[in-house]
Amino acid sequence: MSSIHVFWENDPRAPVRVLSDHAKIAAYLGLAHIRFEVWDAPFSFTPKATAEEILAAYQAPIEKLCREGGYPAVDVARLSPDPQDPSWPAKARAAREKFLEEHTHGEDEVRFFVHGAGVFYLRLSPMVVAVRCERGDLLSVPAGTRHWFDMGAQPDFCAIRFFGTPEGWVASFTGDDIARGFPDADTLARGEPW
Ligand SMILES: [Fe+2]
Repeated sequence: MSSIHVFWENDPRAPVRVLSDHAKIAAYLGLAHIRFEVWDAPFSFTPKATAEEILAAYQAPIEKLCREGGYPAVDVARLSPDPQDPSWPAKARAAREKFLEEHTHGEDEVRFFVHGAGVFYLRLSPMVVAVRCERGDLLSVPAGTRHWFDMGAQPDFCAIRFFGTPEGWVASFTGDDIARGFPDADTLARGEPW
């Protein structure tokens, strides 16, 4: 279920607010000028589906957003467990760790989830808002926003990424270890008693 967990940034032990209603999530994030939308997402993809097939399925909404946001490039980021691949645990760990530290980008980070889930932690001082995105969710993290992303210990997601420059985007790490203190994506998904 899509959700947001809102924490004080200096008290990561328990959220002060949890929302799972799409309209309320969009309204809350909208106050911080963060775009969150739920798109129709009727398509299921097998692991064999190609990026071209995934992009073709969502061609109309992709083109609309590209026009609106001036995004000249899109691609597909995906990761799912492969029981046949002995290197999967190492791959999963490496992929997860890549964006687990707080960072910013010089351009908006725009993601539309077509499969699975992942959690963006947005540092909107004095709060940290953990946004769990699932199939059908579009999230745009504005340029310069401090954030990190957790795909969980068993990453399983597929997201269409929108880029403002054809070169893509580069993470600029802040060096702040704030992320380590917060419940990870798996803990949030379990809905721990706080
Ligand atoms: Fe990022």
